[in-house]
Amino acid sequence: MTSNRRKFLQQAGLFTFGLGTLIHDPAIAKAAKKAVPPSDKIRIGLIGARSMGFYDLSQALKQPAAECVALCDIDDSVLAEKKKAVLEYQETDPATYKDYRKFLEHPDLDAVVIGTPDHWHCLTMVAACEAGKDVYVEKPMANSIAELDIMVNAARKNNRVVQVGQQQRSGTHWREIMDMIHGGEIGQLRKVNIWGNFEYGIGQPEVPDSAPPEGVDFDMWLGPAPDRTFNKARFHGSWRMFWDYGGGLATDWGVHLIDMALWAGKVDYDPVNAVATGGNFAFPDHAHETFDTMSVSWQLKDYNMTWEHSAGLGTGPYGKNYGLAFIGNDATIFANREGWEVHPEVENGKYKVPAMPPKGGRSYHEEHMKNFLECIKTRKDPNCTVENGRLVALYAHSANIALRTGGMVAWDSAGRQFKNNDAANALVTPGYRKPWKLPRV
Ligand SMILES: NC(=O)c1ccc[n+]([C@@H]2O[C@H](COP(=O)([O-])OP(=O)(O)OC[C@H]3O[C@@H](n4cnc5c(N)ncnc54)[C@H](O)[C@@H]3O)[C@@H](O)[C@H]2O)c1
Repeated sequence: MTSNRRKFLQQAGLFTFGLGTLIHDPAIAKAAKKAVPPSDKIRIGLIGARSMGFYDLSQALKQPAAECVALCDIDDSVLAEKKKAVLEYQETDPATYKDYRKFLEHPDLDAVVIGTPDHWHCLTMVAACEAGKDVYVEKPMANSIAELDIMVNAARKNNRVVQVGQQQRSGTHWREIMDMIHGGEIGQLRKVNIWGNFEYGIGQPEVPDSAPPEGVDFDMWLGPAPDRTFNKARFHGSWRMFWDYGGGLATDWGVHLIDMALWAGKVDYDPVNAVATGGNFAFPDHAHETFDTMSVSWQLKDYNMTWEHSAGLGTGPYGKNYGLAFIGNDATIFANREGWEVHPEVENGKYKVPAMPPKGGRSYHEEHMKNFLECIKTRKDPNCTVENGRLVALYAHSANIALRTGGMVAWDSAGRQFKNNDAANALVTPGYRKPWKLPRV
């Protein structure tokens, strides 16, 4: 390192902390890592490295204390590419694995990031917790209702720090919005309307089945999901439109936004019911089982919550393709990741709450990961606990299950099943393909 660079880092205080201000430049983070004593390091491994998993890991690696010691993926080309990418942030080579069970035996692994498709979250998260690792698991926390409870138990019984990847929970503009709502500044909260009209929700154009690409362990990709031949339109990235692996827009984006709607009312109880209409009405030439068109409402105790999506459209209410409208007696707040604005009600020609200019926002991956790393040190609960992850995924899955089984479900929270509804109950617990077994915790 040149003496100028060393001086700059010393002036910036970067030699004096392992977790501190957010460093955006990988090269600076790389240099700063050298000053962190081994006893202060957090050694991280990643399972599922292609896209979001690696993005999460890279947010961690911007922190001087964080070091990647191992990567696990079933695809050789992903492993090779991401191993190289890790070296932008650190000087040491991570080990690579194709089987997460071997990966979890890697010495000195403190924490695991899980960026696999949703159908793998439960098995990998439970195994990591039981191996004594702290876990950052991507959202939705699981691909079924039964797996959600198992994962909560795995985290709590093993005293693990588990952050769920709903990064809005670490977002300053979302906290400002919640403070306003909780402080009564928009009047009584009556309703939260949520929408997510994302184009990717229609899936990929149909293609015939084929052999899996070289270097891909497709049997391990399927894991507990039913056996089938490889199809590119159901694989990397586009798996989320097929029930065996994901839940479509309602769980994929739904959990991010429904989480904000539940936070607004400080909801800590299971859904009472879910009513859903919609279907697969558009884009028959695209491969998808999950619904391209959907309208849902959930009855909450003192306000109503709705979710809408029309996959393939690029716009929606307020001219935005996704967002939430928090509707109070005195004002409505429109918000999404990019920003938020207050629309006051008018009474006798006057605004009921002061007008204010629109405010900005963004996604908060980096803050969310930093919060996870801090909690590994302090052993406190992170911003998005397993209980948060469970609750919002339960709301989202109940909507999908309602539409898959006739349009309406009522949930019995104590019995952990739907009331008088065999068809819906058949979808609560996934039938794992042998030799995989639903974990018992
Ligand atoms: N928080 C967010 O904003 C956000 C955004 C996008 C995706 N996600 C979530 O991140 C997760 C990953 O999504 P993605 O878009 O990156 O998917 P992806 O298909 O691009 O990547 C998944 C990776 O997991 C690997 N994988 C599959 N099975 C594996 C196994 N058994 N062991 C090891 N690796 C395995 C695949 O080979 C692939 O590299 C999903 O749960 C998704 O919902 C979260």
